[in-house]
Amino acid sequence: MEPGWLVIEHPVEPFKIKMVEPIRLLSRDERAKRLDEAHWNVFRLKSRDVFIDLLTDSGTAAMSHSQWASLMQGDESYAGSSSWFRLEETVRNVLGIDYILPVHQGRAAERILYRWLLRGYRRAIVPANSHFDTGKAIIEDSGGIPVDLPTPHSRDRSSRYPFKGDMDVSALESLMRREHDNVPFILLVITNNTVGGQPVSIENIKAVREIADRYGKPLVMDICRFAENAYLVKERDPVRRSMSVRDIVREMLSYGDHFVMSAKKDGLANIGGFIATRVYDAYEELMARVVMEEGFITYGGMAGRDLEAIAQGLMEVVDEDYLRYRVEQVRYLGELLVHEGVPIIEPVGGHAVYVDALEALPHIPRSNYPADALAAYLYLESGVRGVGLGALAFSRVIGGRVVYPERELLRLAIPRRVYTESHLKYVAKSLGKVIAERHKVKGLEIVWEPRIKGVRHFLAKLKPIDAP
Ligand code: F0G
Repeated sequence: MEPGWLVIEHPVEPFKIKMVEPIRLLSRDERAKRLDEAHWNVFRLKSRDVFIDLLTDSGTAAMSHSQWASLMQGDESYAGSSSWFRLEETVRNVLGIDYILPVHQGRAAERILYRWLLRGYRRAIVPANSHFDTGKAIIEDSGGIPVDLPTPHSRDRSSRYPFKGDMDVSALESLMRREHDNVPFILLVITNNTVGGQPVSIENIKAVREIADRYGKPLVMDICRFAENAYLVKERDPVRRSMSVRDIVREMLSYGDHFVMSAKKDGLANIGGFIATRVYDAYEELMARVVMEEGFITYGGMAGRDLEAIAQGLMEVVDEDYLRYRVEQVRYLGELLVHEGVPIIEPVGGHAVYVDALEALPHIPRSNYPADALAAYLYLESGVRGVGLGALAFSRVIGGRVVYPERELLRLAIPRRVYTESHLKYVAKSLGKVIAERHKVKGLEIVWEPRIKGVRHFLAKLKPIDAP
């Protein structure tokens, strides 16, 4: 490795380490055995058999000492818990939204809000900058049709367009013109996980808001990575460079009506979530659904201590020293991978580096799930766990034909405040080696899958194509 080749260096962590959790690297033979036992699906591996776990940034953050301390103050009362009022107050403060309902994690917020918005529609069409897997599966399961309208800039893997998470506003306009009677709401996922953790610009949010207003539709935002989006806006939008992240967050969210939040991401917590809304009538309606499906409206399926951890996490996540470190660490892994000859989505987004598996493994057809094959072989090579986001997760059979998603991606999601520079160097070297020896990587086929196709990537049993 040439000294000085990196465009950026690993950021200096704005924290020191007070507690450690041992990890171990199994031998190659053991990894091969574990992978077989897991049916070649990395979701089925035991975490103790994983060396560096980049499966997700969800629920995997290291909590701060203030968060751990706050757990002791959790008020576990069924109704009227003081931990709830602390969380409610913090959300109002940080996000600038008044009505908040707790749920146990993001997909519960999606399920309750989306099902309510979809009621009464026979053929609901839900346009989004790009749906993520759980929300997409919930909309489909409720009889709706999710439609992805990502900006055309996102199609070019290496274009440096700063806001590849944007929605294609002209595509939205033409869909609304044709289908507005069937559209219950418009969705913006911030950052856009499916197209590479890419940020959404405030100009784009405003343009979508304008269309929503023109057709009288609510704008829903999935804000589980709102702080990372705001920091990337600060970096990439010259008009907002001198604004504080807190002000950008408030401006960004001021254009939405309803919000779903998984606190497992930018809540810096291990579990939890909420629905937020600016509309009192919606709050009243959703309240009853939360009581019925999640728990009373002052805990929503969480322990009082979880509420405390999230309240504290939300204050820490908008700290700009933290966010600079966070975003630069993810970018650092991207730089290392580029150096190793790995084709990644550029510019690197907020929470993960996304590898183009079609480009990395051109010999594997999409019907043999190159993204998931790359995830499996990366584990085999190194004990590193990423996740495939491609045909296995997002293809659908429509009119007897398999329709593939735009991309086939291996996502390396970085848990917050967990791994160090040397961990990331190990990841980059390992993946570089897998791709340099790509001829060894075989495609996968499905041995078993669940009936609900939207979640099959979590559960499917797979095997390499030549395996008995
Ligand atoms: N929305 C987005 C954009 C997400 O990324 C996720 C979860 C959810 C909603 C659901 O939240 O897990 O708390 O129920 N994403 C994780 C991931 C699992 O790995 O990206 P949840």
